[in-house]
Amino acid sequence: MRREHLTTFAQHPTPFYAYDLALLRQTLDAAKAEATQYGYHVHYALKANANSPILAEVLERGFGADCVSGNEVRRALEAGFTPDQIVFAGVGKSDAEINFALEANIFCFNSESVQELEVIQELAAAKGKTAQVALRINPNVDAYTHKHITTGLEENKFGINAWELEELVPRFSEWPNLKLIGLHFHIGSQIMDLTAFENLCVRVNELQQWFEAKGLVFPHLNVGGGLGVDYQNPDGNPIADFAAYFAVFHKLLEKRPGQVVHFELGRALVAPSGTLVSKVLYLKHGQKTNFVILDAGMTELMRPALYQAYHKIENLSSQLPPMTYDVVGPICESTDCFSKDTELPETKRGDLVAIRTAGAYGEVMVSEYNLRDRVKAIYLD
Ligand code: LLP
Repeated sequence: MRREHLTTFAQHPTPFYAYDLALLRQTLDAAKAEATQYGYHVHYALKANANSPILAEVLERGFGADCVSGNEVRRALEAGFTPDQIVFAGVGKSDAEINFALEANIFCFNSESVQELEVIQELAAAKGKTAQVALRINPNVDAYTHKHITTGLEENKFGINAWELEELVPRFSEWPNLKLIGLHFHIGSQIMDLTAFENLCVRVNELQQWFEAKGLVFPHLNVGGGLGVDYQNPDGNPIADFAAYFAVFHKLLEKRPGQVVHFELGRALVAPSGTLVSKVLYLKHGQKTNFVILDAGMTELMRPALYQAYHKIENLSSQLPPMTYDVVGPICESTDCFSKDTELPETKRGDLVAIRTAGAYGEVMVSEYNLRDRVKAIYLD
């Protein structure tokens, strides 16, 4: 987001999300090109951003949809994804959500517990349908990321534990309405150290060998998402290194003839193209701290309050010499703070501020707390 956008931005009531569709297309094309050379299938994780214009770009590139709720499945179908492009994960799928997905004939349920498999069997049998399922296995691999967004460790609630598999495998003969088509893994999000994915590949190979020893060879393997983005330098090269990411799997995953490898990327595809634009309401000068009080808060972008996440902040209106500020929102919570001790050009009431790299897990996580209005979105083409 640059100063040349100021005139466009000035016409819109703040706060709002601005999406750079050209950058979004470049990012999606880069991911597509790298995945295609290995024959990999990418499902876009709708949980990162489910806005229709964004889904339209994703769909146009032939990506599938990774959903974690019945409403995400519904949104994917409405956006034009075909049922055979849709996978459905999540530790707590309700009966209503499972029934909806069964009716829709989605491609695969990524099942996260033995009891959930029993329920899918029961609900599929009642409808006289066969549900394709993949086992989401908790691989106990560290993602080396923030502890709140790590998912592949035994202490995390996600997936079926490896030690449960021995007893689980024979039970599939009791479940005629389930067709086991693959394995699924997802170890966490905002992963910058590719070693985590290397370790995942090693573990996936071991587990596939274990299943093969039992005569089970799967047509599908889903290794999840999690590739991180550089929040520090949005004006450097904002596009994640998809080449390096897919190369890890190409190098280390044992290949099985005819097996399709799936990925579920969210953040890396959409984070760079979104910016939260806000207006400065007030300045407050304390004894030690100068506050910039914005009209956007944790209700519009929860990541800093929830994970102490960093988003680069820019004052689009001022070119005065820098001062140090705490940039905060209007919500009645002390954690409603976007960043502390931040250098910004001297800031005045009415200045426009850009909070960068907010295209993923920004708008989807808005809250109405304090009865806030729903934030709007604009699309720059
Ligand atoms: N697949 C599964 C099963 C997932 O749980 C997730 C994200 C993804 C794929 C996509 O991961 P990505 O490629 O976007 O890293 N709200 C947090 C992130 C939570 C991620 C949850 N799962 C944040 O703002 O950082």
